[in-house]
This record gives sequence, structure tokens and C-alpha cells, in this order.
Amino acid sequence: MESMEFIIRSYEGESDRAQVEDLERRCEVGPAESIFLFTDTMGDPICRIRNSPMYKMLVAELDKELVGVIQGSIKVVTVHCHSPKDLAKVGYVLGLRVAPHHRRKGIGASLVQRMEEWFTSNDVDYAYMATEKDNHASVRLFMDKFGYTKFRTPAILVNPVNHHSFRISSDIEIARLKIEQAEAIYRRFVGSTEFFPNDIDSILRNKLSLGTWVAYFKGDSDFGSDGQVPNSWAMLSVWNSGEIFKLRLGKAPFSCLLFTKSWSLIDKIFPCLKLPTLPDFFDPFGFYFMYGVYHEGPFSGKLVRALCQFVHNMAAKSKDENCKIIVTEVGGRDELKHHIPHWKLLSCPEDLWCIKALKNEGRNTFHELTKTPPTRALFVDPREV
Ligand SMILES: CC(C)(COP(=O)(O)OP(=O)(O)OC[C@H]1O[C@@H](n2cnc3c(N)ncnc32)[C@H](O)[C@@H]1OP(=O)(O)O)[C@@H](O)C(=O)NCCC(=O)NCCS
Repeated sequence: MESMEFIIRSYEGESDRAQVEDLERRCEVGPAESIFLFTDTMGDPICRIRNSPMYKMLVAELDKELVGVIQGSIKVVTVHCHSPKDLAKVGYVLGLRVAPHHRRKGIGASLVQRMEEWFTSNDVDYAYMATEKDNHASVRLFMDKFGYTKFRTPAILVNPVNHHSFRISSDIEIARLKIEQAEAIYRRFVGSTEFFPNDIDSILRNKLSLGTWVAYFKGDSDFGSDGQVPNSWAMLSVWNSGEIFKLRLGKAPFSCLLFTKSWSLIDKIFPCLKLPTLPDFFDPFGFYFMYGVYHEGPFSGKLVRALCQFVHNMAAKSKDENCKIIVTEVGGRDELKHHIPHWKLLSCPEDLWCIKALKNEGRNTFHELTKTPPTRALFVDPREV
């Protein structure tokens, strides 16, 4: 590693904000030939971590210039085969950026190392991160240099919001749950799902969480106060990510541009076809993130679809006209993805999650965990999107 005079220190909101936002604008994430999204944090660079129970942002400074940044958050989640009670403290690494002219000088590695030290000082069991599997720089940095291993490959499903509302089947009832009821149902039915956050109540109570809805067939039993549930039912919650940051397409292959243009042209010429319009992604846009999607019973796939349509209609009618996509992320082997409407063109079939055990005690059973096939379901925390 080349010796340089850069220092790593904590982010200071007042003085660092503008430089960090500028750095974000200058950094393209992922391979040069693929679609690239810019994140506009709207004056609050720590907006992606500030809703987590513990968080930290570090910056690398060289001659008074900010040349690197990294964020991390800590929480307690369900991790199978981990004692006691299958709960573990995990640290999530995100937002690693190094200024293009200062790459390959060890700055990225120093930022990761300091973030891991912060995790260790807070008794974190496992550090994990998510990246595009084609992002070779990031994959090599974490896997080759720091010993992270491939953990899970959930699918990111994206559906555009368009001005045509969906008609929800008349035999389906959709009801909103109170926060206490949603928490109880999540703990009972989803609590054992991998990476289920122990502080689900604070997620549900957060102002970005727009609510939790259940769907079931009319005439089937209702959600009783005695804990009774219908034969077939589905639930999900919605998080308004667009409230804290916006996305903007930075660069897209020509084929994608052509597709966007011709699609909206067809829609203008033939509005009666009710084609889903592909929104203009070159202006900053927000999105809703559907989390905690769960279903049970013989016909519950149809109920999941109805809930997704309900969320779509909610986004289409929302006062925030900038909500242009609905996003969700589900376990790679989860059959849920067959029931959640999404566009393949906009979705990512394999988001690569890598993990590393930070404690080397004998009781750490993580290495056995990696050898087991991924569980079908994975809870993706809306605070980490
Ligand atoms: C990924 C990134 C943060 C790396 O920062 P960096 O300061 O250049 O990384 P370092 O100099 O500390 O490199 C450490 C190791 O990472 C790997 N690495 C870094 N850049 C690489 C590249 N372009 N190609 C292949 N391996 C690379 C190497 O193993 C390297 O070790 P080496 O130099 O001894 O071979 C930087 O390329 C970047 O900001 N990319 C854009 C944003 C991004 O993709 N972030 C990751 C999102 S998860």
C-alpha cells in the first residue's frame, strides 16, 4: 500500500456536507458499460444511515480535500445457527467512494479497515456489504483483500409507476394494520427469517414507513384479536425512500435510451392501449420500497400481486409526483419474485451480499452457515436501501 498523507476521520456535517455531496456526484458506481444511478441526498449525506440504531460516516482527507467516504450502521438481526437465540449484531458497510483521481492508493482499504474497527469496538459479530456482482473493484477489495465471502444473492425487483391505475380484484379485501398489530404479526410469522431486524418496531414507527397492509379473500376469516389469521393472506409495508434521497440516471446504454423514447412515443400515440409508461429517469426521482413482504396459504400469490397493485396505485396518486418506481428486494430463491410485478429491464436478478465474521472465537458458527444453501426468504431492511 502506497504511503500517503491522507487522514481518516469522522464526518462533520457542518463543514463536510458540500464536499461529500460533490464526491458522490463524481463517483460512478459499477462497471463503465452498465446503467448508472446517481444518488442525490438532498443536503443530508447521512440520510441512508441515520434511521439505523447506530451509525457512522468516515471521510478520508488529503490536503484539506475530501477524497474518500464510507458509511456503516449496526443493528441486531436473526441469523440462524448463532447462539444465543439466533440473534447476532451485524454491521452494514455502504456508500464507499474514493475520488477517481485518488484510486488504487489504499484509501478505500483504509476506510474499510477503520469501519471494521468501529464495528469491533461495538461488539459486532459480522460485517456485511452489498454490491453489484460486476463491480470488480468493490468485489476484489472486500473479498480478496478483506476476506469477505459470498453470502446471499437477493433479487432487486423494480416496477415503474405510471398514470394508469390497476383495478384490484373485487373478491380481495385490503386492510391497513395498526403498528402494534403489524409488529406482532411480523414477529410471529417473519421473526425467524434471515436478517429480520430485532428493532422492527422502530422501523414500523419511523415517519418514512407509510404503513402495513394485509390482503385476504372476502368471506375468509378476518385477522382475529385471538391471533387467528385467514387461510390465505399476504402482507407488506411501504417505506418512502424518496423522502430522504432521490435517484437520477447518470448514464445509460444507447439501447436503453432508445427504448425509453420509443416506449413513451407509443404510449402517446396509443393511450387507449394503457401501456405502462416508462418514466423519465433523467430527472431526479423518488421511490417506494416494499419491505416485509410475506404470504401464506394456497392462493396467496394472487394476494401479493393485489397488494403490489395497491401500492402502485398509492404511488400514482401520491402528492409526490416524483415517485417513479416501486422497488423491493427478495431472497434469490424466494418464490415471491414470481408474484411481485416487475420489469426485467429495470431489475437486478442478483445483488451480491458478502459477509465476514469479525469475532474469531470458537462459538462463532458463521463459517458453517455459509456452507448451508441460502434460506428462501431474506429480510431486506428498508433503512439500508
Ligand atoms: C471501490 C473503490 C472504493 C476502491 O477504492 P480504492 O481507494 O481505489 O481502493 P484501494 O486502493 O484501497 O484498493 C484496495 C484493493 O481493492 C482492489 N481494487 C481496487 N480497485 C480495483 C480495480 N479497479 N480493479 C480491481 N481491483 C481493485 C485491489 O485488490 C486493491 O488492492 P491492490 O491495490 O493491492 O491490488 C473505488 O474504486 C470507488 O470509489 N469506486 C466507485 C464507487 C464504488 O463502486 N463503490 C463500491 C460500492 S460497494
